[in-house]
Amino acid sequence: MTAPIPAPPGFTPDEWETFERDGILILDDVLSPGETAALRDAVDARTPRARQGDIVALDSRFVPLIDHPQHVGRMFDVYGDMLKLLSSELFRREPGQANRNNWHFDGPRLLPFGSFSDRAPLRVKVGYWLTALPRKEMGNLIYVPGSHRWDHLPQYHTHEPHPQEKHLTVGPGAMTLMWGGLWHRVDVNRSRTTRRNVFLEYGPSWLVATDRTHTDPQWAAGLSRERRIILRAYDDPNQGVKPPAEDVPLYLDRLGQDAPDPVGTRYVDHVPLELRRRTTWVERRGKA
Ligand SMILES: [Fe+2]
Repeated sequence: MTAPIPAPPGFTPDEWETFERDGILILDDVLSPGETAALRDAVDARTPRARQGDIVALDSRFVPLIDHPQHVGRMFDVYGDMLKLLSSELFRREPGQANRNNWHFDGPRLLPFGSFSDRAPLRVKVGYWLTALPRKEMGNLIYVPGSHRWDHLPQYHTHEPHPQEKHLTVGPGAMTLMWGGLWHRVDVNRSRTTRRNVFLEYGPSWLVATDRTHTDPQWAAGLSRERRIILRAYDDPNQGVKPPAEDVPLYLDRLGQDAPDPVGTRYVDHVPLELRRRTTWVERRGKA
């Protein structure tokens, strides 16, 4: 059995501060040009599909995204040993596309995730932008910074402009992290290019996936240890709540240690490692 490895780098304190305040973190030039082109080809291979889910199971070119080092450490900072990939999807927003999302936030509206957590998001959506979006009206993401803490938006379910809205303009290879609950919509695409991007959404393993009912455990067993765990392809649904011993810890801490951190709940020696709580980076930050 493969041994756990140290967690890849996570949030800097400044990045987390921005993310917590705005509900969105935008980082440029995260993917190399080669990586961006390869992902764009993989997205185009699904043409004419404008949107498709569970892409990591569909095309092996998307598999490295499950634990891409540019985001997985940050997701581990939020969800720790229970990190799960909740969905992976691609988008192709063609010029003149009439069907575009109006104001909404991702996740349940009747009893939103925000009802349960103020300190940390219950879902985070990672976006990789594969085509240049230098100006408005290119199928851009439009969002209201800081609105992840708002229960209500008067413009909900319309395309009425909001006075504080921002239009995402980025180069190919940029990454965004979006806090579950951020109000957003999609711009018209009056350009001549198709907007292509992929989204990967993460949360704790006790949340349901939204792009699949089940991942085939046999297929997942052929992936690396970290990818297999993050997909949470469990036959026993209770393992989403109580992961099997071999899946804990997901990563060692960044110093290569697997002991519970001193800020976490203390246990006596007879409690096995997989039942011991390790606080997440976000939790430790809150207690600092
Ligand atoms: Fe959305």
